[in-house]
Amino acid sequence: MPDIPNFIRESAVVQKNESIAHGVYLMRLLAPQLANACRPAQFLQILTDPGLSPFLRRPFSTLYVDREAGWLDIIYDVIGPGTERLEEAKPGDQFHISGPFGLPFDPPTSKRILLIAGGVGLVPLAFLAWEHPDRRADMVYLMGAANTTRLPNMPALLPNDLALHVATDDGSKGHHGFVTELIAEHIIPNDTTILTCGPHLMMARVADIAAELNVPCYASLENHMACGFGACVGCVVEYKTYETDDLRYRRVCLEGPVVNAHEIVW
Ligand code: FES
Repeated sequence: MPDIPNFIRESAVVQKNESIAHGVYLMRLLAPQLANACRPAQFLQILTDPGLSPFLRRPFSTLYVDREAGWLDIIYDVIGPGTERLEEAKPGDQFHISGPFGLPFDPPTSKRILLIAGGVGLVPLAFLAWEHPDRRADMVYLMGAANTTRLPNMPALLPNDLALHVATDDGSKGHHGFVTELIAEHIIPNDTTILTCGPHLMMARVADIAAELNVPCYASLENHMACGFGACVGCVVEYKTYETDDLRYRRVCLEGPVVNAHEIVW
């Protein structure tokens, strides 16, 4: 049994819960200890139902915190019983939350920090931009969505001095095509680091392009997290190279969710 990392347990009170795109919601939770502690890409485990359905907590990362007021914002896609419970929540409702778990994104030292997001993967990258105003001028944020109905009002979620470019698969807003098609034009040769979060296929493509361009690339993985603290081994990712067999598969909840995208098997 691994050592269980220290984490906070807090009963969080819903302050608002509103739709920001088709099937996508923003929930504000009053949770002063967690708001104070969480860092970009770390995740919180929310018990979405005090009964047994669903039994397991669900992982969510943080979009923004107001540490003085003690609240934090999360964004979620309604995709199953857990998030359906969240969708039903009203101001004043409470959820038991534990966290923060995992290792955070830190801003790299490169001149250009290219943030590439898809879907609710926008969240940890936005939090990174909020948390590091001193590096914002070096950041370019690329956001991909299927179409405008699935695309939140991005300027409302991001700092207003952050460079933003949008792509939609159907061309209903911004670049017509995949967000990955925008990467090459925003690279500063030999001085760019890519950070990405979003659907698995998108991140795999980002990692491929980064490898072709010889650019460092880190991804925040969105694997299922059952326990969140290393006990269940349900969140492992396979590495391409490993010194010993026990390092071939590593737990995303402990050694991630941020991983070197060039090191893992996509
Ligand atoms: Fe249980 Fe990672 S979620 S080991």
